[in-house]
Amino acid sequence: MAIDEITAAPTARITLETLRQMRSARKPIAMLTAYDYPTAQILAAAGIPALLVGDSAAMTVLGETTTTAITFDFLLTITQAVRRGAPHVFLLADMPAGSYPDLPAALAHARRFVQEAGADAVKLECDRSQEPIVAGLAAAGLTVCAHVGLLPQRVTTPGGYRAHGRTQAEAREIVDDALVLHRAGAKMILLEAVPDEVSAQVSRQVDCPVIGCGGGPSCDGHVVVVHDMLGYSRHVPKFVDKLADVPALVSQAAARYLQQIQQREYPAPRHQYRMKGE
Ligand code: KIV
Repeated sequence: MAIDEITAAPTARITLETLRQMRSARKPIAMLTAYDYPTAQILAAAGIPALLVGDSAAMTVLGETTTTAITFDFLLTITQAVRRGAPHVFLLADMPAGSYPDLPAALAHARRFVQEAGADAVKLECDRSQEPIVAGLAAAGLTVCAHVGLLPQRVTTPGGYRAHGRTQAEAREIVDDALVLHRAGAKMILLEAVPDEVSAQVSRQVDCPVIGCGGGPSCDGHVVVVHDMLGYSRHVPKFVDKLADVPALVSQAAARYLQQIQQREYPAPRHQYRMKGE
């Protein structure tokens, strides 16, 4: 099916207000990561209302072993591509590691995501020590999503990925971080790899959409890395279902192409240009 044939795309722009209304109406919010124009088009046309251009692109697109190996400029470029493919979705851009060491840098980078790529909001991996940055971004009119729980930018080895908030003390810390950052002005909270009890506590005490990435059913919405869902990833977190095997399709097409060339079936007469005239 060609992308143009998929016609279910919503035409009304999804805003933070739309997501807030979905939360109030207890209508679960589906969010996926996206890193390129055609995938964004397909996801938007399938009705996904919110896309995240995550720094997970470092791993899924660039083949790096952690999310920190990505530049702001690269993320800006792919955020522009995703916005072109999905003009109506709520678009969340991930502030990469090193792009928000202080408020001036955070403001400069966040504004570029909004002004140059059409992002609706920016996401920062943070704890309460980043409260002044979140407050400053919010005061400048930027919509901030505070990402707490497992913070991949602080994981230095691939094996360092683990659930957070599984002890009373750690759970309390994550809930408190979320509340501090929400009070500082965060208009969305993203909880990664935490028990549902943590999500329930946060969701009960904030008045904004809470998105889980392995955060359990108490979240208002859920996000997963699209490459994990589509079967590209070797190691998939337990909270992701592999819903398709896209690599198998690509592999079949590549094998068929190879065969066509090796057997001289390609190029056939229909593929060839002809000289004009005699
Ligand atoms: O970069 C990313 O994809 C993320 C999600 C895992 C939440 O931050």
